[in-house]
Amino acid sequence: MTDKTFAPRIFSGIKPSGGLTLGNYLGAIKRWVAMQDTGGFETTIFCVVDLHAITVWQDPAELGSATREVAAGMLASGIDPSRSILFNQSRVHQHAELAWLFNCVARMGWMNRMTQFKEKAGKNAEKQSLGLYAYPSLMAADILLYHATHVPVGEDQKQHVELTRDIAAKFNHDYGTEFFPLTEPVIEGPAMRVMNLRDGTKKMSKSGESDMERINMTDDADTISKKLKKARTDPEPLPSELAGLKDRPEARNLVDIYAALSDQSPEAVIGEYAGAGWGTFKPALAELAVEKMAPIATEMRRLMDDPAEIDRTLAHGAEQAREIAAPILNRTAEIMGFVR
Ligand code: TYM
Repeated sequence: MTDKTFAPRIFSGIKPSGGLTLGNYLGAIKRWVAMQDTGGFETTIFCVVDLHAITVWQDPAELGSATREVAAGMLASGIDPSRSILFNQSRVHQHAELAWLFNCVARMGWMNRMTQFKEKAGKNAEKQSLGLYAYPSLMAADILLYHATHVPVGEDQKQHVELTRDIAAKFNHDYGTEFFPLTEPVIEGPAMRVMNLRDGTKKMSKSGESDMERINMTDDADTISKKLKKARTDPEPLPSELAGLKDRPEARNLVDIYAALSDQSPEAVIGEYAGAGWGTFKPALAELAVEKMAPIATEMRRLMDDPAEIDRTLAHGAEQAREIAAPILNRTAEIMGFVR
């Protein structure tokens, strides 16, 4: 293995902790499919990160179906296992092993700055699992185990990919090598932070209190339409310039969702709907979302009816993943001086 040149390679993942949302689709999966399809990458690797899910309690009776649902969401959206590697993380033990090595590279001060831990732990940091705190080090291992050069994620994961670069740089420096690449986060497009439909200052997430806050990737046409028509907005019509949405988070969010679903810029959407009221824009958005998302939900349901087939796909992907991961972990151990 040469230590300096890195083929352009993508790695990204989603936690199976509850269902998938429109945020996961627009911020991640839809863009992964585009990157897979354009063919500019030597390898595209997509992972259901079940080891990350258990950083908060997961009912063992539900972890399996959540894992299959995330895989089904990726497959239904167009991730093609004959062109991409698709697997679940716990099947490739090298992730956990490299994470331990990185726990000894990452510094406490770096981990203490992770905003997602602070948000998730809130005032209850003492009661959180050690895994939740160490999570970004496992994420660095996920990425660097494949020498991934590009990681397409939503805005909320940016700091974790930057930490991955810090870990790679410190490892390379401490061991006098250039073994790990300095991975780039790929955060582009209008929907890098899809917001909650009831409160435009909060991120759309799997775990919000009310189902009306989010579009689930399994929602049927009527549900998608109802949620978007009932989405909170303000009384003003749409402005003629994007700048007019500056202090209107709910309005901005719906314009961004429209832009991402229709592969346009938010400016182009505003150009088309300048001066339109919600009575015009919301039904148009609902129609677009149903057109794009309902077929994916139908396909997800079809795939989930045959869990054994999903399991075969994930098992095959894990074999392919191990072929890349095993030599990289072995070389890492060698560089660190372990007797193997
Ligand atoms: P997770 O499971 O929370 O989310 C998966 C992906 O969906 C994106 N996303 C969003 N994008 C825009 N708007 C939203 N409201 C929204 N909600 C979620 C996330 O940014 C992410 O890209 N730690 C990661 C999983 C992970 C990972 C990795 C990602 C583990 N190892 C290695 C990349 C590379 C996470 O919890 O994502």
